[in-house]
Amino acid sequence: MKIDHLGIAVRSIPEALAQYEPVVGGHGSAAEAVESQGVRVSFLEAGESHLEFLEPLRPDSAVGKFLENRGEGIHHLAFQVPDVAAALANVRAHGGRLIDEAPRIGARGRTVGFAHPASFRGVLVEFVGAPR
Ligand code: CO
Repeated sequence: MKIDHLGIAVRSIPEALAQYEPVVGGHGSAAEAVESQGVRVSFLEAGESHLEFLEPLRPDSAVGKFLENRGEGIHHLAFQVPDVAAALANVRAHGGRLIDEAPRIGARGRTVGFAHPASFRGVLVEFVGAPR
């Protein structure tokens, strides 16, 4: 299972990119709002994977609350899978807890689904379908 990206919660995407771009190389994608999640995101290529910077659109969004409670930092780990529904079902079949009971459309128009951090040693895990 390939690591698709690491999600990093930040207060400002431009400020985060200004720090990361000179070190990682390349340029972050134009920020994209994901209204359903209350965030805007930018992806920066890092080898065969990406960093996803998440900036809250609203303080009461999940990422807004994360920043308030824990500050900036790694927010989630995303695995690329051929079938997001099957990946979620596999977690459930092994007694894991899900945040998303069914796949939905996330950033970049890709299918995503989240499992609960309680099922992965405190790590919020995202499954994301391959780019189309
Ligand atoms: Co993500």
